[in-house]
Amino acid sequence: MESENKQQRFINAAKGQKVDKVPVWLMRQAGRYMSEYQELRKSYGILDIIKTPELATEVTMQPINAFNLDAAIIFADILPPLEAMGLELEFINGEGPVIHNPIRNKSDVEALLSPSPHEALGFTLDAIKLARKELDEKNIPLIGFSGAPFTLASYAIEGGASKNRLNLKGMMHSDKDSWHSLMEKLARFSGNYLLSQAEAGAQALQMFDSWVGELSPEDYREYVQPYSKMTLEIAKTANVPLIHFGTNTNGMLPDIKEAGGDVIGVDWRIDIEKASKILGNDVSIQGNLDPATLFSPWEEIESKTKKILDSMRDRDGFIFNLGHGVLQKTPVENVKRLVDFVHEYTDNN
Ligand code: CP3
Repeated sequence: MESENKQQRFINAAKGQKVDKVPVWLMRQAGRYMSEYQELRKSYGILDIIKTPELATEVTMQPINAFNLDAAIIFADILPPLEAMGLELEFINGEGPVIHNPIRNKSDVEALLSPSPHEALGFTLDAIKLARKELDEKNIPLIGFSGAPFTLASYAIEGGASKNRLNLKGMMHSDKDSWHSLMEKLARFSGNYLLSQAEAGAQALQMFDSWVGELSPEDYREYVQPYSKMTLEIAKTANVPLIHFGTNTNGMLPDIKEAGGDVIGVDWRIDIEKASKILGNDVSIQGNLDPATLFSPWEEIESKTKKILDSMRDRDGFIFNLGHGVLQKTPVENVKRLVDFVHEYTDNN
């Protein structure tokens, strides 16, 4: 019974339906805070893991085996699709991802490839099939994901992390043709990739627009929203719940909602109650504990978690998560306790 509920708990909440307990999963639930992952990383680079379906499946399962989570997310990254489109991607230890040939002008945009996801990202589609076999035994659903066009464009144009995103905003405002044609290519590729992941077995899909809060709402509506919409519309044909996540989105939640998604992911920079009021009851909400909270004493974690759960108590369609990914060095015992606490505290039986 418990395992039967688990399969449905996350999916029902995503669809705004009643659940027996609030479902919980954590963005970046697989990764360096876990010793099992660190151990594997001694022998393999992150791209090696992503490109080897058996290893990607193993890492996908690490947090599932360690914690009582209600969903798994396939181990991959938002950036291999850029590699598939012809960009040279490298993850540099201690520095993060770098694109060695960033897009700066019209001819760079024209040179981008649009291969089929099967051709270019078959390793992740195979990992999804493999992970589903293991997850089905535990009755746990699998989430597939992709980067949103804007967040992908941010890496493609800046070539890595960037504080002010002047190259990106420069293209957006001064070379509009290039911008729109880049965004359309990214939107179609990301949408088709999401669709392929659902066809391979992903039971829900999340579009990560991690850096969208760098924009004014006006620029979001004009230069970004049509393309997020395009990606989500393509993915929608898969008929699985779609989660639309962004950070720093307080000033643009209605615009984010309008772009689409059955679930809107929000970060901790807004009270979840306020986000819930702004978004209304016709979408589900996912969020929003500050990931840094997991470094605090348990009493602090518990009281902040209770506050979120209390304010969402009367709302169907709530998925507990952090407001962004689990941070490196997060104490594993706090993750375990948090996941159990969400279930215990919201048990309706
Ligand atoms: O959630 C999961 O457990 C699934 C795996 C996952 C990874 N990246 C693995 C990863 C997911 C969903 C992502 C998404 C991702 N990747 C995003 C969107 C979400 C977010 O956090 O905003 C972004 C912006 C990226 C790009 C990226 N990948 C960066 C900036 C970095 C370096 C910084 C960092 O956090 O280490 C990565 C590397 C990366 N992707 C790691 C992991 C586990 C680090 C692991 C390592 O070096 O071994």
